[in-house]
Amino acid sequence: MNQDDMKRAAAKAALKKILPQLDEKSVVGVGTGSTANYFIEELATVRDLFDGAVASSEESARRLKEAGVPVYDLNGTGTLEFYVDGADEANGNLHLIKGGGAALTREKIVAASSRRFICIIDHSKRVDVLGDFPLPVEVIPMARSYVAREIVKLGGDPVFREGVTTDNGNIILDVHNLRILDPVTLEEALNHLTGVVTNGLFARRPADLLIVGTPQGVEEITAPA
Ligand code: 5RP
Repeated sequence: MNQDDMKRAAAKAALKKILPQLDEKSVVGVGTGSTANYFIEELATVRDLFDGAVASSEESARRLKEAGVPVYDLNGTGTLEFYVDGADEANGNLHLIKGGGAALTREKIVAASSRRFICIIDHSKRVDVLGDFPLPVEVIPMARSYVAREIVKLGGDPVFREGVTTDNGNIILDVHNLRILDPVTLEEALNHLTGVVTNGLFARRPADLLIVGTPQGVEEITAPA
């Protein structure tokens, strides 16, 4: 089984999980990235069993529409029952690093607006300590240098992601060389820097269920009580 097969297997398992609770009024939160794209393909196969979706990026909205799934504005839907999305890293507490695809802010908004966040990954993303994957931080363009200097004071090594503008018109700093032992505290510290829109740590609102595609099959992990 290659990495794509494992991502697809996790996406299929997520659909199987939510399917019994979908009805003609259901609006599903949908994430961004290659694993989320497999989920979009799966959702399209049951198109008649739910109403539509809220997308965490312009790219996912485009893919959903192309697959015949109506896309709604989150402001009109109220709380969503499910949000399904990938991640760049996940630890045993279901804390995540996200934002490799630069969609972190909208992803965090949809996750915050959803009762259940199901995170789908292949097993290479499962880590004990977050931080090998550079932590994305979305920043208002004029604050780029200021925020970078403040991140250095916090012990990180920020690198400007050249050529990338987020769906919200901002830039991304990828923070290298972190060993994130206290994800909640770092998430809050970064969010308190003036000019930061949000950062890719999903620890204050972690996933509720992690579905991991492995060579042996799909594994489900819930956070310890
Ligand atoms: C996009 C994300 C993605 O979920 C993350 O980058 C994982 O992507 P992929 O499923 O392609 O490995 O956070 O901003």
